Amino acid sequence: MSQGIATVPVPLPGRAYDIVIGRGVLAEAGRRIAALGKVRHVGIVTDEIVAPLHAAALEEALGEAGLVSSRITIPAGETSKSFAMFAHVSDGLLAARIERQDAVLALGGGVVGDLAGFAAATLRRGVRLVQVPTTLLAQVDSSVGGKTGINSQHGKNLIGAFHQPALVLADTALIDTLPLRERKAGYAEVVKYGLINDPDFFEWCEQHGEAAMAGGTARDHAVRVSCAAKAAIVLRDEHEHGDRALLNLGHTFAHAIERIVAYDNSRIVHGEAVSIGLALAFRFSQRLGLCPGQDAVRVTRHLARLGMPTTLADVPGGIGPASAMLEAMAQDKKVMAGKLTFILARGIGASFVARDVPAAEVLAFLDAELSGT
Ligand code: GLY
Repeated sequence: MSQGIATVPVPLPGRAYDIVIGRGVLAEAGRRIAALGKVRHVGIVTDEIVAPLHAAALEEALGEAGLVSSRITIPAGETSKSFAMFAHVSDGLLAARIERQDAVLALGGGVVGDLAGFAAATLRRGVRLVQVPTTLLAQVDSSVGGKTGINSQHGKNLIGAFHQPALVLADTALIDTLPLRERKAGYAEVVKYGLINDPDFFEWCEQHGEAAMAGGTARDHAVRVSCAAKAAIVLRDEHEHGDRALLNLGHTFAHAIERIVAYDNSRIVHGEAVSIGLALAFRFSQRLGLCPGQDAVRVTRHLARLGMPTTLADVPGGIGPASAMLEAMAQDKKVMAGKLTFILARGIGASFVARDVPAAEVLAFLDAELSGT
């Protein structure tokens, strides 16, 4: 059933791959992975929530194409991006005898993709990785672009590797089983692409956001445009020496919020923090005199209309003083030589990397946000 299935190519020299997007792609996994050539055995890494929903269908599809599969199931949640779980997954793949020409397949959201991707990057000095993202956020962001890694006690994603997938299979029907809160969180990353450099896509989001969240062709379109946008940026700057940092729009604020709530997903999930971060990035840009006020209002209004948080006051339990936010930002790995780096905007679709943003400006902005002035 290939109807409505689209392919976004990522033509990186020497490691080009396709992102295949649409309803029913999972059922084609065996045929598409076999077409990569030489794969005999697929080591599936998944989590305890995703496995009962989708693992059997995937294994059946692999079996139909004559591929052998082994499954490693990890606990769901950010705590699985650990040294201990990396060792568990790597040893599991070796015990299953995944060989150099075989593939590791990540079936899950961002945590599974990052962990399995890092295991694939290092197993036998690198085996092929197939990403089968099961969350909207993973379909439009983390499964594409080759960032893999685990967390350290010193911070998130501090140990990792760039390891591009050999194939991404984004079955948009899998999002049907995703809780609404997770769908909304993923949608923040969709909106981000419009805000970075595609004002027409932001306008499309304003018109079709609810439909994209609900499913069907609007969702497929949103995933397709998002993946194409990310692919274009990754092609320009695979290793984040320049433009790739644009993908961090809203993320300096978001990471600080997540750090302050100690990554407690009952309070805030990543995409919700990104939603607040996007709104803050535009209001901060407005305060700095860079961005028209009406654009900042449009961004906040759109995210809020779709039920997403847009202010620090929306963080359950509060966020503490502005100084705590600033301190949390200063720990971000994207801070160089003590200078704050932000992605700011001259308007919707006109984002840019601003290095050396004065801490005093950030503090004054956060104080104003927290006092509602
Ligand atoms: N999620 C940001 C990046 O892939 O660069």
